[in-house]
Amino acid sequence: MRNKVEEAVKAIENQLKLRPTVGLILGSGLGGIVDLIKNPIEIGFDSIPHFPVSTVKGHAGKLVFGELEGVPAAVMQGRIHYYEGYDLKQVVFPVYVLKQLGIKNLIVTNAAGGINNEFESGDLMLINDHINLLGDNPLIGPEEMGPRFIDMSRAYSPELIEIAKRAGKALGITFREGVYACMTGPSYETPAEIRMLKIIGADAVGMSTVPEVIAARQCEMKVLAISCITNMAAGISHHVLSHEEVMEGAKKSEKMLEKLLRVIVKGMK
Ligand code: 6GU
Repeated sequence: MRNKVEEAVKAIENQLKLRPTVGLILGSGLGGIVDLIKNPIEIGFDSIPHFPVSTVKGHAGKLVFGELEGVPAAVMQGRIHYYEGYDLKQVVFPVYVLKQLGIKNLIVTNAAGGINNEFESGDLMLINDHINLLGDNPLIGPEEMGPRFIDMSRAYSPELIEIAKRAGKALGITFREGVYACMTGPSYETPAEIRMLKIIGADAVGMSTVPEVIAARQCEMKVLAISCITNMAAGISHHVLSHEEVMEGAKKSEKMLEKLLRVIVKGMK
């Protein structure tokens, strides 16, 4: 894996003038912030050696480099999901590439279903912890990209959470805060599964983010993760859930999230 990461990094660095320090991995329907990047250099996943290519609707699949609020940034529009059939090593490959490119702070966004009864669709939740229910872990296998027995307390940087809250305050936006449970999908959960997730302490549920965060913590990047609550989960909402509803929910919150990300990134300068 190390050689493959190096080849990908070389291919990217050949096209870059800046060295990005902030990385963003954008969730389903949340890719619009790339339009705010100054002097963008776009590199399709399919033109980067060894890079996995996303197959999901709403995931364009490119890396965009440039300045965001004066901060050199790398934005990944369209991520890879476990449910597409990739193994977790492939899912987190881009994270190791971002690390090698110089990223110190990684911001991850996702669309998620709300479990906490106080939440409403349209809310933004700062993830302060997670529950990995994938039954798998990207660090399984040879100890190649870093240590395997890594600490996962404070995986979601309290310092970056503070920066995000300050940005929210400045914009008059109140965040929810809570625990994100990661399921494999691609089917959504049953009402019984959602009751279980509630009992074990989850506030929101989705199908991404956790593998990337584990890999990012292995290489000691600081992580901020934000869930866009696009809908309430099964049994909490009583109507039929669809990918279209999730995408529509994401589109509704996208502008607010963009505003926030600009201020948050500025705070990372
Ligand atoms: Cl309800 N479940 C999962 N697993 N992912 C989602 C979701 C629900 N809503 C948006 N993404």
